[in-house]
Amino acid sequence: MGFTRILVCLLFYSSFATISVAQQAFKCTTGKTCRSIVGYKSPNTTSISSIQKLFGVKNRHSLLGANNLPLSTQSNYVIREQTVIKIPIPCICFNGTGASNKMPIYTVQPGDTLSYIASDVFMGLLTYPRIQQVNQIENPNLINVSQVLWIPLPCSCEEVDGESVVHYAHLVEAGSTVEEIAGMFGTTNDTLYRLNGIANNSQLIAETAFDVPLKACNSSVREDSLDSPFLVPNNTYFLTANNCVKCKCDAAANNWTLQCELSRIKPSSWSACPAMQCEDSSLTIGKTTTSSCNTTTCAYAGYSSDQNIFTTLATQSTCPSYYR
Ligand SMILES: *[C@@H]1O[C@H](CO)[C@@H](O)[C@H](O)[C@H]1NC(C)=O
Ligand SMILES: *[C@@H]1O[C@H](CO)[C@@H](O)[C@H](O)[C@H]1NC(C)=O
Ligand SMILES: *[C@@H]1O[C@H](CO)[C@@H](O)[C@H](O)[C@H]1NC(C)=O
Ligand SMILES: *[C@@H]1O[C@H](CO)[C@@H](O)[C@H](O)[C@H]1NC(C)=O
Ligand SMILES: *[C@@H]1O[C@H](CO)[C@@H](O)[C@H](O)[C@H]1NC(C)=O
Ligand SMILES: *[C@@H]1O[C@H](CO)[C@@H](O)[C@H](O)[C@H]1NC(C)=O
Ligand SMILES: *[C@@H]1O[C@H](CO)[C@@H](O)[C@H](O)[C@H]1NC(C)=O
Ligand SMILES: *[C@@H]1O[C@H](CO)[C@@H](O)[C@H](O)[C@H]1NC(C)=O
Ligand SMILES: *[C@@H]1O[C@H](CO)[C@@H](O)[C@H](O)[C@H]1NC(C)=O
Repeated sequence: MGFTRILVCLLFYSSFATISVAQQAFKCTTGKTCRSIVGYKSPNTTSISSIQKLFGVKNRHSLLGANNLPLSTQSNYVIREQTVIKIPIPCICFNGTGASNKMPIYTVQPGDTLSYIASDVFMGLLTYPRIQQVNQIENPNLINVSQVLWIPLPCSCEEVDGESVVHYAHLVEAGSTVEEIAGMFGTTNDTLYRLNGIANNSQLIAETAFDVPLKACNSSVREDSLDSPFLVPNNTYFLTANNCVKCKCDAAANNWTLQCELSRIKPSSWSACPAMQCEDSSLTIGKTTTSSCNTTTCAYAGYSSDQNIFTTLATQSTCPSYYR
């Protein structure tokens, strides 16, 4: 029995040794923080609130937005087993690697091992040496019930091919290929090979996290805004400015331009939402007016800690070219 366990341990260690560093953690050398996403496939039927609890997602709306579920979705909403749910995480880069910033926090249960926590609770999104490393655990076989662990989920804030993107930790399915993944997420096989430091499909390992850059809608959000860099991936929405503003990305309909409007839900830490009207106009955020053939939109431009929401007027000419 003891011998078998030692053997299993050795096999474990030797198989991890062959996995490239890129698949244990995503490269991130910027020293920045940003928003990132991981794909979690629940092994059993669960609910929005259980997922929030496991991943430490405080704001339910951010989870709903990442999955394009209606804002009215309640926390007891059922998630069927084997459904992939996108979990928004704050990402921090240090030591060349991206990690979810001091979250999730997991409390060790009776019978847990670090390897079980990595592969069965967090479904292979990370490997146990990463948990060991960031929690400075000397001997991975010595963890105690009730001990709290920081689970450093893989993420990144790096630009890809000179473009700001949202990094998505995709859990590789058995039998899938890099070309399939590229097609699924609107990127190219070359980009994925390069980003993940692999040369061919035989190096793609099932049940590990794969770094996929999601192209995102972008906008005129100022660099000094608390939510900058403001990037929202296709077919998702995001509540910002303490929940006062809802911005969505519908790439096909709006050519990768972010569409923001008043959310009309309760602000998270302000007593009320401040004015969100564009200067020198009667427009509030998201509203549009057309004069002759110019379309003017009052766009969201960021927010500050002193309860200000910035706006900017954006004019787009829809004139036939002979008028220009
Ligand atoms: C789903 O599985 C997890 C981990 O195995 C367990 O903690 C949780 O209680 C299960 N939830 C349900 C609803 O069975
Ligand atoms: C930094 O990265 C190196 C190489 O990847 C690793 O050996 C070292 O333990 C890391 N340091 C910390 C503090 O995580
Ligand atoms: C776990 O328990 C052992 C034995 O009681 C103790 O020596 C060790 O410090 C504990 N570790 C943590 C992280 O609590
Ligand atoms: C947003 O898009 C504009 C124009 O397409 C570009 O100049 C700017 O760098 C982009 N910003 C980010 C953060 O990607
Ligand atoms: C990657 O995609 C390109 C075109 O998009 C294709 O020509 C090439 O064969 C693909 N590479 C592999 C290894 O399939
Ligand atoms: C995949 O790439 C690795 C590393 O370059 C190489 O050792 C291996 O032979 C390649 N496998 C196939 C099937 O091409
Ligand atoms: C954006 O997402 C929608 C819905 O998933 C999809 O139909 C569309 O092709 C995507 N557009 C782009 C440009 O990726
Ligand atoms: C979409 O936006 C890009 C850059 O912002 C622009 O070059 C292109 O003409 C736009 N396409 C359409 C169909 O409006
Ligand atoms: C449309 O806007 C442009 C500049 O944004 C301006 O020069 C032009 O006069 C406007 N045209 C009309 C008809 O308002």
